[in-house]
Amino acid sequence: MEVDPEMIPLLGRLEYPDHMLNPWSRLLGGELAHLDLGPGARVLDPACGMGGVAVMVAREFGASVQGYDVLAGHVGKAEAFAVAQGQGERCVFAVADVRDVVGEARGYDALLWIAAPRVWSDAAVTIRALRRCVRPGGTVFIADAYRGEDLPQTLCPGMQTLDETTEGLAAEGDTVTLVPDPPTDWEGDTAVARAAARRLWDSLRDPDERGVVERYLAQLDASGERDAVELGSAFWHVVRGEA
Ligand SMILES: C[S@@+](CC[C@H](N)C(=O)[O-])C[C@H]1O[C@@H](n2cnc3c(N)ncnc32)[C@H](O)[C@@H]1O
Repeated sequence: MEVDPEMIPLLGRLEYPDHMLNPWSRLLGGELAHLDLGPGARVLDPACGMGGVAVMVAREFGASVQGYDVLAGHVGKAEAFAVAQGQGERCVFAVADVRDVVGEARGYDALLWIAAPRVWSDAAVTIRALRRCVRPGGTVFIADAYRGEDLPQTLCPGMQTLDETTEGLAAEGDTVTLVPDPPTDWEGDTAVARAAARRLWDSLRDPDERGVVERYLAQLDASGERDAVELGSAFWHVVRGEA
């Protein structure tokens, strides 16, 4: 969902119980168990949000995770969550734009790209940028929505179909394993986001700020209904080849 600029300063004040900002929170532990993320593994999470996935990976598997997010409020929440979960030494977070991160980060065992922003034009351009951050044999794990075959591109700008996405992700010659249509909790995701926005609204006194949150709530409802009906979702494991 596109977020209005006036809401951006307030996003970091939303409270999510498990710090996950995606509709696959209950599935990710099982899916990532297929990767070798034990102690010593280095994981990059370049759009880490409030750190829910990073902390889960450190806690469940023992990997060290470097997370980045463009919002300082999210990074602050991720840091506090890691400490509260006893993972402060394994999880390091910083504020950065993913486009800068991928220019520098190299040699990771895995990269997590989960409900991540569409900063690149399509899947082929995205994987070209991300795969450089993992070593040959390392995995870029992607959890994302795709556009239904019948839906006009104009309704979901920048979003590709399942086949287009899978083809694009294979463009560099890597091995791509597709997990199509995991049971995606769009409604639960919207309900959690709605409850967080509602709690924030309750805590605010400034009528202008309350108005911003009210418009955000209306947007959430509209996009939640649309996502549940119109979007598919999938996981892709892209294992980098030697190139
Ligand atoms: C839907 S959330 C998903 C967060 C996390 N991966 C998760 O599953 O909980 C997307 C995140 O991307 C961050 N983001 C958006 N644009 C970004 C950018 N250019 N660079 C880094 N992070 C960005 C947002 O601030 C937000 O925290």
